[in-house]
Amino acid sequence: MSFHVIQQAPARLNRSELAVPGSAPQMFEKAAQSDADVIFLDLEDAVAPDDKAQARKNIIKALNEMDWGKKTMSVRINGLDTHYMYRDVVDVVEQAGERLDLIMIPKVGTAADVYAVDMIVTQIEDAMGYRKRIGFEHIIETALGMQNVSEIAAASKRNESLHFGVADYAASTRARTTIIGGVNPDYSILTDPLVDGSRAVHWGDMWHYALARMVVAARANGLRPVDGPFGDFSDPEGYRAAARRAAVLGCEGKWAIHPSQIAMANEVMSPSEAEVTRAKRILEAMEKAAAEGKGAVSLDGRLIDYASIRQAEVLVQKARQIAG
Ligand code: GLV
Ligand code: MG
Repeated sequence: MSFHVIQQAPARLNRSELAVPGSAPQMFEKAAQSDADVIFLDLEDAVAPDDKAQARKNIIKALNEMDWGKKTMSVRINGLDTHYMYRDVVDVVEQAGERLDLIMIPKVGTAADVYAVDMIVTQIEDAMGYRKRIGFEHIIETALGMQNVSEIAAASKRNESLHFGVADYAASTRARTTIIGGVNPDYSILTDPLVDGSRAVHWGDMWHYALARMVVAARANGLRPVDGPFGDFSDPEGYRAAARRAAVLGCEGKWAIHPSQIAMANEVMSPSEAEVTRAKRILEAMEKAAAEGKGAVSLDGRLIDYASIRQAEVLVQKARQIAG
């Protein structure tokens, strides 16, 4: 291990993160009753410019008056390049900061962006006498944000999670696609001719590099990596496949842009019983090995060693967090 100890952000369950437009208060009650771990009430891209002011009022009222239970509540503010952003922060934190857990910052590009919002939030919290500190979630969704992802991840003690905003990321990198989060047939490889002369097509995951890079930056700074939207809400299989890829890479959760995606995110982002059982068997086998003075042993015909303990503990701890 390095001498550098990574400080972990507060451990919140973040398997599903439901997006709810702040301009659609008729959706709030259903969201509050849902099984989403985190809800972000949106002031940014799901809200038309003429509706921004009313959406802010809706969110403030809903945070203060509705029963959101134990849900982690977040508000996605507008980007730092818009004049909506300062009022989003000032109004929402001043008027509803007690029930707000997180602020989601979209299109964050540099560590200085984080610093700027941190400064405003700190002043408001101090002026209002809040004791609880609001955390930050950042959407990595521009080429600049991806280039600076490590600095962004380290930019504030408020940082809790990084989210991959695949739609804006595609636009920012000028990717030739208009789908949100799915695969693209043009991102594929052809095999050499097979025995019968035909050639197979293997579809690739065009988001792999971006997501993997974000996961590393998040984990190196003790933050939760969370995969963003999957736009085709009538394709549950496609959603599950995307969520599984993200989970395998280390993501803790995925957005739900439709209520039907919440249960799928919760299920895929929770380790299965079989995975937890195997992890517990690894821990038991390693405990026995240690008692016998051995560092590596075999379990079911496979090598396990001290690194296996750390891998297994990730799964067992996650299962414990979900259970409790
Ligand atoms: C989310 O904000 C995205 O752009 O995908
Ligand atoms: Mg976006």
